[in-house]
Amino acid sequence: MKTTTIPDKKATTQNDFLPLQGTDYVEFYVGNAKQAAHYYMSAFGFQALAYSGPETGEKNKVSYAVRQNKLTFVLTTALRADHEIAHHANKHGDGVKMLALRVDDAESAWKETTKRGAKSYMVPQHLKDDNGEVVMSGIHTYGETIHLFIERKNYGGAFIPGYRAWSNPHFQPADTGLLYVDHCVGNVGWNQMDLWVKFYEEVMGFKNILSFDDKDISTEYSALMSKVMSNGNGFVKFPINEPAEGKKKSQVEEYLEFYDGEGVQHVAIATNNIVKTVMELRNRGVEFLKVPATYYDSLPQRIGKIDEDLAPLQELGILVDRDEEGYLLQVFSKAVQDRPTLFFEIIQRKGAKSFGKGNFKALFEALEREQEARGNL
Ligand code: FE2
Repeated sequence: MKTTTIPDKKATTQNDFLPLQGTDYVEFYVGNAKQAAHYYMSAFGFQALAYSGPETGEKNKVSYAVRQNKLTFVLTTALRADHEIAHHANKHGDGVKMLALRVDDAESAWKETTKRGAKSYMVPQHLKDDNGEVVMSGIHTYGETIHLFIERKNYGGAFIPGYRAWSNPHFQPADTGLLYVDHCVGNVGWNQMDLWVKFYEEVMGFKNILSFDDKDISTEYSALMSKVMSNGNGFVKFPINEPAEGKKKSQVEEYLEFYDGEGVQHVAIATNNIVKTVMELRNRGVEFLKVPATYYDSLPQRIGKIDEDLAPLQELGILVDRDEEGYLLQVFSKAVQDRPTLFFEIIQRKGAKSFGKGNFKALFEALEREQEARGNL
């Protein structure tokens, strides 16, 4: 593993041509947005926020925005068979389409990135309604995934012009302690990782802060390589994975096959109390990867003293890793749709700014057991 200095959150943005304030929202293209929104509300503890569809003048698609703390998800479905969103859902299954990033200036973000070679998805649009204005632009990244740039000029509406406030007084599931997007991982094809590392460096001004090769991330059967890209202030982190040669098919290859291309592998969400959050999620039906009991036998020697009791960590399958700055706790959900593609990570950082390298082996062995059960290993 190679480590370089992880950017300081207070680092100057003076020379940053693409200053980012963090993730504004994550939009999923799905087969049934109404039911997907219900799943994120009932299982993950999101609240209804905003709706867009035929009633708001959007004839061909519907979107539901749900929110929990600083985390906003949008679930979108096409209403007609020949719509591009229907084709997307048919090809990829349910998955992440937009990683929307908050900026001060969406026009500048678009100009600076397209001038450096980004392919435009959306020229800057000024969206207005009675509540004010949102400026939005967008560029393509790996696969069919998009980065939107969202500039909110003190917008006072529910979400974005075109949406109306949406709530259901009879269905308001309690929060599960999910706070914000910690990082978002992309799976890319064979020999494509360095190309996308270069894209994030040159087009978006990101830096490669960590690299893992196939010796770091391999099990008896499969391997992958990963490079973590971060923007200047560290608010936005995008690890990029590519498969590596192993005895059998790697989890990244399985993803690429079932997603039918490159795309978002997992979204990692921060919490301040992982035991409480994972207990809540589990009780509402979210399924997590199981970790072998032997993982916990060697844990105290490997990571030293931590604040949490080991018993609940073991019961919930929560993994722990330590780096020079502290430790982190993390857990991985099973895929959240029938295709073995997108899943979620829940992460609590206690000083550590890394990504759980010490857990990779245990995690991948757990993933392979799932893959084997599907007959895809
Ligand atoms: Fe992760």
